[in-house]
Amino acid sequence: MSGCHDTPTDENDEIVLTTYEQIRLYVQPGSLDESRLWDAAIAETDEDDIMPPPYATPLTDAEKASISKWIEQGALNNSCNACDTTFAFAADILPIIQSNCTGCHSGNTPEAGLVLESYSDIQAAVISNDLMGRVNDPLNPMPPNNPLNDCLKNQIQSWVDADMPNN
Ligand code: HEC
Repeated sequence: MSGCHDTPTDENDEIVLTTYEQIRLYVQPGSLDESRLWDAAIAETDEDDIMPPPYATPLTDAEKASISKWIEQGALNNSCNACDTTFAFAADILPIIQSNCTGCHSGNTPEAGLVLESYSDIQAAVISNDLMGRVNDPLNPMPPNNPLNDCLKNQIQSWVDADMPNN
């Protein structure tokens, strides 16, 4: 979250968690107990010490399970095999767009005049508005300043490569 562990400050004990290498400083692969990230923060039971602090949205059980599984499996710098799979529009692609794009690209005054709500909106934006180019643009990505991670980009790209099925 911006303003928390993205720059070193006294308040966050100089702990920065924006890259794999930085996160690995607080993780012992294979051991939750020896992983400061897990044991001293996420799994903490004292309300004052738990991360994120109580004023932020707590991690869900599913998110905690993903982190503990990642540590137990060796804390690798890997990614999902998104390219190997075919993705369906309704189950996979639309939720990515709804979570990351529709907030700005919907309603009566969408950003850039571009609506991304329905299958036909999104299909048209891939063809006519260089949607993938903007998602991958290193200087001016969409969403602005906050590019999608590679896994999500790969999912959309796989769907585009499969000729954008409306499935
Ligand atoms: C915070 C608001 C915001 C979010 C979220 C957002 N956009 Fe945008 N988008 C903009 C603005 C503002 C512009 C116009 C300025 C520009 O092109 O950089 C734009 C322009 C675009 C354009 C170019 C349209 C054209 O024809 O020039 C595309 C394509 C696009 N967005 C796709 C997306 C996609 C896909 C997502 C999600 C992955 C997304 N945007 C998320 C604000 C947003």
